[in-house]
Amino acid sequence: MATGLLRRAITRVPARPLATRMIQNCAYASAADPESKHDSNLKTFQIYRWSPDNQDKPKLKEYKIDLKECGPMVLDALIKIKNEIDPTLTFRRSCREGICGSCAMNIDGGNGLACLTKISSGSSSMINPLPHMFVIKDLVVDMTNFYNQYKSIEPWLKRKNPPQTPGKEILQSKEDRKKLDGMYECIMCACCSTSCPSYWWNPESYLGPASLLHANRWIMDSRDEYTEERLEAINDEFKLYRCHTILNCAKACPKGLNPGKQIQNIKKLEMTTP
Ligand code: SF4
Ligand code: SF4
Ligand code: FES
Repeated sequence: MATGLLRRAITRVPARPLATRMIQNCAYASAADPESKHDSNLKTFQIYRWSPDNQDKPKLKEYKIDLKECGPMVLDALIKIKNEIDPTLTFRRSCREGICGSCAMNIDGGNGLACLTKISSGSSSMINPLPHMFVIKDLVVDMTNFYNQYKSIEPWLKRKNPPQTPGKEILQSKEDRKKLDGMYECIMCACCSTSCPSYWWNPESYLGPASLLHANRWIMDSRDEYTEERLEAINDEFKLYRCHTILNCAKACPKGLNPGKQIQNIKKLEMTTP
């Protein structure tokens, strides 16, 4: 299957020397003739390209744009390239505010949101899809497994008893509400899971930092009445215990969250809950 082949190709997303070799064979595109711009600030973007519509292997393609005519963020550069140079360049984006999580990609070797990542000061940048994910096209990856894992932790309020006052909210104290801080802010961008070595090697069986952070979010919710069942459901050698506290996830999270810490909390509860 084409996606299977691609997965292997992605694991070999080139380090710089290979990328340099690849680029020598790549098409070159420019927004403007550099000679005609005396005060321009040209920067090269090397962007991963692959389309299921042809037989070509994945490649890095170079685009040069003038930063003086571009917004400050990586997403601004991608939109400029798409609008002015190459309309076939494909990537996801929606809110441009770090809210929707759809513009997650690998920028200069680190996962991040294109709309929240400033264009670096160097003369070139490299942009790849999120690592170890099947590529659908260019920078768009298949999130199906990631969303299915999220669904598997049942990310909704579960009750055994109806609310005290039918039709009214189920209240919680300010202290209990505070226990959800550091988790409810997650936008499901997958920057954490796709930076986690354990998730790279066990993407189907290890739930990964994002889904486990959400598992803990519902375990810690004072209004939820399925805490023990939730703990039991993920008390599994692969689902939970593939986390080795490497903390790549915390480093990658564009919202400043620490999924590794939430996973530690689940492990602690697994030991202390009868
Ligand atoms: S702390 Fe756990 S979830 Fe986070 S990167 Fe490390 S192994 Fe992955
Ligand atoms: S924890 Fe952070 S990196 Fe992971 S999915 Fe949520 S927002 Fe994205
Ligand atoms: S476009 Fe929504 S998070 Fe970047």
